[in-house]
Amino acid sequence: MSEVVRELQALPDQDIRAMATYLASFNAPAQDPATLDSAAQQAIARAAQNQSALLGPAQRMFQSACAACHHDGDGPSVLGLNRPMALSSKLTSDRPDNLIRTILEGVRDPATREIGFMQGFGDVLSDAQIADLATYLRARYAPQAPAWTDLTSTVARVRQTIP
Ligand code: HEC
Repeated sequence: MSEVVRELQALPDQDIRAMATYLASFNAPAQDPATLDSAAQQAIARAAQNQSALLGPAQRMFQSACAACHHDGDGPSVLGLNRPMALSSKLTSDRPDNLIRTILEGVRDPATREIGFMQGFGDVLSDAQIADLATYLRARYAPQAPAWTDLTSTVARVRQTIP
């Protein structure tokens, strides 16, 4: 990417703007929550109810690191995609391993172009921060399920399995 940025410096601003407009035209329009089916809408609404009780550092971490691509339908779609967390099976499962793996590794090699890309956070978040984030996500998006325990050591264990 840095090469592209360097090469483009020679172009007039209006050409770069025209290119950006063209590229942006490929993005799907923001997802309309009304088009989500009603079970999905209920899951999102349930999760939203828990929000105010969970304000704190982990909630701010989610807002700043994740919510651009995983909000509840009340924001823009980055790269044409928004995936509300309330719909992820990784938050309702008995074990947190898959959630932790996704946070550590991201989605590097999506199956299709429509799925989009997620960066890994393994290099920027500590085990304790990822544990806090997982605790928050579980409480907010799967309040019906019991809290996960021993998260910090689980993050350390899952981290070991990532090449
Ligand atoms: C740049 C956008 C972006 C950011 C930022 C981002 N993600 Fe993702 N995330 C994605 C995409 C794209 C997928 C793949 C969606 C799919 O599989 O359909 C994904 C998938 C996931 C999944 C799996 C969803 C499922 O249904 O199985 C989880 C869990 C997740 N992200 C959590 C997070 C967390 C936690 C953060 C912040 C630490 C984060 N994401 C930040 C784009 C992002």
